[in-house]
Amino acid sequence: MAPAAPEYVFTRDYLDNNRINLQHYLWTELFGYVIHPKIPTDDPHLKIADVGTGTGVWLTSLSNLVPKSAQLDGLDISFDAAPPAGSLPPNVTLRKWNVKEAIPLELTEAYDFVHIRNFAFVLQDGDIPGVLRRLVRLISESANQPEPGGYLQWGEADVASFRIEKVRADAETDALRELLQLSQPQDSRLSPKWVSGLPRLFSTEGLDLIEADVRDAPPHLAWTTHQCNLLVHELLARQAGNQHASTVLQALMPRVVNETMQGSYWAFTRYTVVGRKPVATLAKDA
Ligand SMILES: C[S@@+](CC[C@H](N)C(=O)[O-])C[C@H]1O[C@@H](n2cnc3c(N)ncnc32)[C@H](O)[C@@H]1O
Repeated sequence: MAPAAPEYVFTRDYLDNNRINLQHYLWTELFGYVIHPKIPTDDPHLKIADVGTGTGVWLTSLSNLVPKSAQLDGLDISFDAAPPAGSLPPNVTLRKWNVKEAIPLELTEAYDFVHIRNFAFVLQDGDIPGVLRRLVRLISESANQPEPGGYLQWGEADVASFRIEKVRADAETDALRELLQLSQPQDSRLSPKWVSGLPRLFSTEGLDLIEADVRDAPPHLAWTTHQCNLLVHELLARQAGNQHASTVLQALMPRVVNETMQGSYWAFTRYTVVGRKPVATLAKDA
């Protein structure tokens, strides 16, 4: 019998933490910001939540960009990937919350700004409306007075936009294709379709001033991001306890690396979607 699917597809070990941290810096190089420039950040009483904070890298980057008095909360179901508490900036706090569960009363409308990123391999299509509704409920309606309404920012790679690109016409791509065929069927969470629908879903949940910043990386950045993400395949197989995939990968990865060095790489379109919660939004039951 195949082992049960793990609660989270990645390993939360130092290999994956390095991947997530590097991905953050590549992400901010691509987009040019940590917080979207339309979102006000100068209020000394700002309260910000980073949902699914992981290694906390987005929050710790942000801690240099907002007033030192801002409250920065990292929410997650596990802190196995997070730095030890004593090493975090003093205004960063970690607390458990599962996006698939109701919001604790004290977190309801508690934040001026909520950030979430890289949940494409965590959430399935059917999870999104409920999760989005709960994220909106975390946001205070009275933030940023006299401009009412707090903001949500959601960043994802659109896995459905997958394509192979190459910098040399004769670069090979067979092993890169085989890698996709090996990894994706391992777990239904690895083929998300919902990312490009986020702007429409923001609107359905009553957010306004919605903006979708959709970017394709230039070749040097796309190639580096691809190389960073090559780690994923061994980690997925290990976490799933999939011995067959691990064995196939041993032979496949040297070919994948060879094609990557020839200039072939996996490319994805990336989204940062922002929206404001207007005062008139009635919090719906989560
Ligand atoms: C791929 S990591 C992304 C980390 C971070 N958001 C970033 O972009 O650097 C996904 C994170 O979501 C967390 N996660 C998974 N399922 C969750 C859930 N149901 N509720 C809250 N967090 C969850 C994982 O523990 C992990 O830290």
